[in-house]
Amino acid sequence: MAMKEVKPEEFNESVFRVIGKEWLLVTGEAEGKSNAMTVSWGGMGIMWGKPVAFIFIRPSRYTKEFIDKAEGLTLSVFTEDRREMMSYFGTVSGRDEDKIAKASLTVQHDNGRTYFDEARVTMLCRKLYAQEMQQACFIDKACDEKWYNDDYHTMYVVEIEKILVQD
Ligand SMILES: Cc1cc2nc3c(=O)[nH]c(=O)nc-3n(C[C@H](O)[C@H](O)[C@H](O)COP(=O)(O)O)c2cc1C
Repeated sequence: MAMKEVKPEEFNESVFRVIGKEWLLVTGEAEGKSNAMTVSWGGMGIMWGKPVAFIFIRPSRYTKEFIDKAEGLTLSVFTEDRREMMSYFGTVSGRDEDKIAKASLTVQHDNGRTYFDEARVTMLCRKLYAQEMQQACFIDKACDEKWYNDDYHTMYVVEIEKILVQD
């Protein structure tokens, strides 16, 4: 299927639904290899005058090793019939299996970033900022208690350089 570019200000989907309900596939590429994982926390908006996404990755994720080595990453959204695949990417680690090959995704590359023909939306992103979350910064301590066991996410702010949507 053909993809067309959409400007960020013309991307008129609910980010609450896209991120929280449909989920994002975050893909990193480094040293000729790629790995991807599912995320359902994050945001999109404007920072430093640029269209950005915010994603949060725990230290244990294999994908984090790829993201930390690379200059960019991609965010992909798939249609509902790929829900099982998204669960797979969110429960199995790329340390144990080549998830991208097992999911039979058609890989494309753009400037050191991996993305997929099958995604209904693709965001090609460039890293701007990364910061580890800290226990001392929690204002609502209940969030810390509920969600962490000394495995604080790293927050990545990435510039959304291009949005591609299926025609
Ligand atoms: C619906 C869903 C949402 C998830 N959201 C996140 C997230 O926002 N951040 C994160 O670090 N892990 C998240 N995960 C967990 C990772 O996707 C999971 O640990 C994955 O197996 C990591 O793969 P990797 O080791 O190949 O990187 C989520 C999992 C699921 C199923």
